[in-house]
Amino acid sequence: MLDSNLFQYTGTTLSCEEVNLEVLAGTFGTPLFVTSARSLIESYRAFERAFDTLPHFTCYSVKANYNLSVIRTLAELGCGCDINSGGELYRALQAGVSPSRIIFAGVGKKPEEIAYALESGVLMLKAESLSELKAIDRIAGEHGKTASVAIRINPNVTAETHPYITTGDSKEKFGIDEAELPEVFALIRQLKHLTLIGLDMHIGSQIFDPEYYVAATMKLLTLLNTAKAMGFALEFLDIGGGFPVTYDPLKPATPIQHFADKLIPMLLPAGITVIFEPGRYLVANASVLLTRILYKKRNHTGKEFFVVDAGMTELIRPALYQSHHEIQTVTRHDNTIVADVVGPVCESSDFFARQRAIGDAGEGELLAVMSSGAYAAVMSSNYNGRLRPAEVMVNGSEVKLVRKRETYEQLVQNELLEELE
Ligand code: LLP
Repeated sequence: MLDSNLFQYTGTTLSCEEVNLEVLAGTFGTPLFVTSARSLIESYRAFERAFDTLPHFTCYSVKANYNLSVIRTLAELGCGCDINSGGELYRALQAGVSPSRIIFAGVGKKPEEIAYALESGVLMLKAESLSELKAIDRIAGEHGKTASVAIRINPNVTAETHPYITTGDSKEKFGIDEAELPEVFALIRQLKHLTLIGLDMHIGSQIFDPEYYVAATMKLLTLLNTAKAMGFALEFLDIGGGFPVTYDPLKPATPIQHFADKLIPMLLPAGITVIFEPGRYLVANASVLLTRILYKKRNHTGKEFFVVDAGMTELIRPALYQSHHEIQTVTRHDNTIVADVVGPVCESSDFFARQRAIGDAGEGELLAVMSSGAYAAVMSSNYNGRLRPAEVMVNGSEVKLVRKRETYEQLVQNELLEELE
């Protein structure tokens, strides 16, 4: 079972909550992202329940899915936002999130992004280098502000996950090394436009073993004591995101409660507000990518292909991280065939599944690529002149278009066809 069961067959057709996916594809076309609002709400509530006894503040990491309606749905439940750029700040503000509930991460913030965050009044900026601390202080001074800052520590814990999404290892670009901290604390003492309010880490994504969090949190707690001993009154300890979800029923994710059971006893005695930054956990299983089978073909070796109308331009995870996504036929089929499910993009890496047993659907039928709520639409591109798909949100029997499909006009709207002399 996937974490969320809000995509189920009703009779012979797959539905999202009370809405038939066949009907949605007919109305809005394909490829189409379909998001269950109830799934978002349930995931958030499950997270909150797990950490209930710990004073904490959950900031949804909007990079996972920054559709305005997704952000708003979570924000309305009391969730804050973790952002990584000026663009994500703009999105969070547009979605109606109060700046006092927004925290700004990122290894390479530009001066104008820092200024934008300070002018907006975000809760904190998380600094990742000595140079960035100086930049924040200078920009805050120029704007007549005092910046609230947390330091992102690189705890040098290598969490076991895909190498592209481990971030807490000292060979990676993220955070400040522990060894540098005396210098950092000394610097912060001298900076006049900056207040240190927290320590921060984020060790990676889709991490199954809570022990990595335990190891990194221990380091953070030691550093918290050092900071306190030096006279810094810290309010927040941010332990990042990275909590896992089930993509493949054969590899079920560690329940969130297991993380809470390990972390709460460690964190509670610190008497500090803990910040969490879940992204994937809240959104991954809330959406599917609906796609239509254009052609079926068999090559001379007998290998079968389903050529569908979505591709790596809409969901790059299989190509980039060899990720597994379940694929279900929207009309239930009892017979299966083993096939590759591939997209229309001119790259051999443009596939959703290889040699997968899949319902023997015919040309023109629909497939649902499951667990496509995190790092899917947000990583989409116009490569091969592809149009970014429409997105709909379902709540019970209600359906709302929450992103229009791109048009050919939009593909070229920023280009200027100038004559060069
Ligand atoms: N906080 C920070 C500072 C982050 O960099 C990230 C994700 C998160 C929180 C949220 O992590 P989550 O809870 O979603 O694991 N594109 C990759 C994942 C990249 C994650 C980047 N940082 C994928 O599709 O697997």
